[in-house]
Amino acid sequence: MSDRLLFTEEGSADVVAAAFAGTPDPRLRRVLTSLVHHLHAFVKDVELTEQEWGAAIDFLTRTGQISDDVRQEFILLSDVLGVSMLVETINHRTGGTSTESTVLGPFHMVESPPRELGDTIALDGKGSPCLVSGRVTGPDGEPLPGATVDVWQANEDGFYDVQQPGVQPPGNLRGLFTTDGEGRFWFRSVVPRFYPIPDDGPVGQLLAATGRHPYRPAHLHFIAAAAGHRPVTTHVFVADSPYLDSDAVFGVKDSLVREVPEVDDPAQAAEVGLPNPFRTLTFDLALLRADQAPPAAQPAQAQPTTVPGAPS
Ligand code: BEZ
Ligand code: FE
Repeated sequence: MSDRLLFTEEGSADVVAAAFAGTPDPRLRRVLTSLVHHLHAFVKDVELTEQEWGAAIDFLTRTGQISDDVRQEFILLSDVLGVSMLVETINHRTGGTSTESTVLGPFHMVESPPRELGDTIALDGKGSPCLVSGRVTGPDGEPLPGATVDVWQANEDGFYDVQQPGVQPPGNLRGLFTTDGEGRFWFRSVVPRFYPIPDDGPVGQLLAATGRHPYRPAHLHFIAAAAGHRPVTTHVFVADSPYLDSDAVFGVKDSLVREVPEVDDPAQAAEVGLPNPFRTLTFDLALLRADQAPPAAQPAQAQPTTVPGAPS
């Protein structure tokens, strides 16, 4: 007998992992070894039937087939499984000293048009007027002049401009701003609304089959960046929005929720160039310095696996 490992039900993961043992890249070897152990443990745990295996292959095939330049169904699948948020959270630990991050989402697919402070991003004039403002600082509260603040949001009907070509003007509800000498930014927009993630494909079928709704609570997306600092990709969520407790993609963090109070004062409305009354949304962003950034991926020993029989 050779000392070759033969496939058995009990030893399946070890046999397959051994086939990857010669992988030259240590990180790839580590990832694949862990993947094989977790995957085999899962198949054994649920005693996957051949019919279920076939349904899974069909599901993944359709997930690929519906994806194109403007639709990424695999990312959506990762989102509704909470994997996107987990990867995001692991890779952007803040230690409590900076603004928390959340998912990028699939709708930052075009460059946001550069705009002047105070401009409106609501090009179609629809929606409930809102003044959005804030400051970008470093971790100790020092203002960051010249920081960029990239924002995008869905319209009143819950759609991004790229989802409604011909209905919304291109660049509607998007803008790239640069902070003033005190790190401040402000612009005019409309109050964001909750909306469903695209649910007319395999991911929508998964949600329906499991009794889950496809909605995200009302939010405004931000990417704030400044020289010498670690950029943050995040949202601000509207405090009274439905679905704050059940975001379809698990993106809500308490620190990102803000009230959007109404201002009823014609003089103030005239000053900011909005109809009276209007709402205000204030969101300050604190960035870590680049040299403070936590390492993106920890080596293997930092996160021990709990799969029985898996190598540590
Ligand atoms: C979004 O907020 O734009 C989004 C995030 C994840 C999935 C779908 C949409
Ligand atoms: Fe969004």
